[in-house]
Amino acid sequence: MNNIFVDTINGVKRERPPVWFMRQAGRIIPEYLKLREKYSFHELMYTPELAAEVTLQPVELLGVDAAILFSDILVIPEAMGMKLEFTDKGPRFGTALKDIKDPLSYLNSNPSKLNKVYDAIDAVMATKKADTPLIGFCGAPLTTLFYMIQGISSNHQFPDAVEMMYRDKETTNNLLEAVTDLSIEYALSQVKHGISAFQLFDTHAGLIPYSLYNKMVMPHVRRILNAVKETGTPVIFFPKGLGTGMSALKGEKIDFVSVDWQMSIEDAKEMVGPEIGVQGNLDPRVLTSDQGTIKRELEKYLPFGSREHKWIFNLGHGVLPNIPFENVKFVVDWIKNVNWKR
Ligand code: CP3
Repeated sequence: MNNIFVDTINGVKRERPPVWFMRQAGRIIPEYLKLREKYSFHELMYTPELAAEVTLQPVELLGVDAAILFSDILVIPEAMGMKLEFTDKGPRFGTALKDIKDPLSYLNSNPSKLNKVYDAIDAVMATKKADTPLIGFCGAPLTTLFYMIQGISSNHQFPDAVEMMYRDKETTNNLLEAVTDLSIEYALSQVKHGISAFQLFDTHAGLIPYSLYNKMVMPHVRRILNAVKETGTPVIFFPKGLGTGMSALKGEKIDFVSVDWQMSIEDAKEMVGPEIGVQGNLDPRVLTSDQGTIKRELEKYLPFGSREHKWIFNLGHGVLPNIPFENVKFVVDWIKNVNWKR
């Protein structure tokens, strides 16, 4: 495949960094918002032709170098038998695991519920241009389990889930393992259906101390990443808020680490070492500003981008719903047209 994202993630030197955005599908695309007037999020995600259309919109309308599958990390808990609703205030489970006496036996995995996602991948493969890579993804075990235990995200805090991690390590570990087992099956099926790269989203990694993360969570994360990596598919890991814990990622079988906006991209690169590439990390809130300000923030990346080839431009977290479409397009055009002096 002749594509700058694929080359960069595989270590081939190119004239500029590739660009794509977390949460680029949906949210700010006018054509998506029109579709949302007719269909619910669930309908869009579980109707393969519609999911494929939304997946490819950012490639066509923004000009990004890769598509990411239009789906959600919470399809895993759904496939484990949890009833899920997407409300105006975010996702909400009918029953939260914190209210269940024996959560492990309450869960009832039915992997065939994920077939609709594979159908969506097939539909993307059938309609995309040959040189458009598709990024597959899944939630990391901790982030996924936090939603399952808490049942809802209230201001991105999961107090009962964190408390359970301290109080009942055995149950927590068993639950992490169950989520991980299904996630591996899910990730490997995505690979079989043709994804070009795989990203593991650990949005809430920063909610617990790094020492606890390393001990209780990292073995599960490692299992998923290694399983995908063994197929030859490149992996990206996004441990948001991990902070100085990033330096322990050196030596892991990870191709790229997606860096949050809290730290500088230079510090992140220093921490992960020469082998692992970095992705990121503009603060998404910059994109709510005027284009002069956005340009000044982008120019700060020029020295790094000139010397660092293992870098994929992205945001430090997802595109926000209040970001103007034109500003996102402005970023893509700037990244593609500025002289990176490589
Ligand atoms: O990146 C992409 O554009 C691909 C699709 C994608 C969605 N969710 C679509 C979506 C991806 C990769 C995700 C990942 C996801 N989902 C994460 C990890 C990344 C991150 O942003 O931190 C998390 C924590 C979730 C859980 C989730 N799903 C929340 C908290 C919400 C509600 C608020 C929101 O919009 O994020 C969702 C719903 C959701 N997932 C929507 C979309 C387009 C909104 C549906 C709508 O009303 O149109």
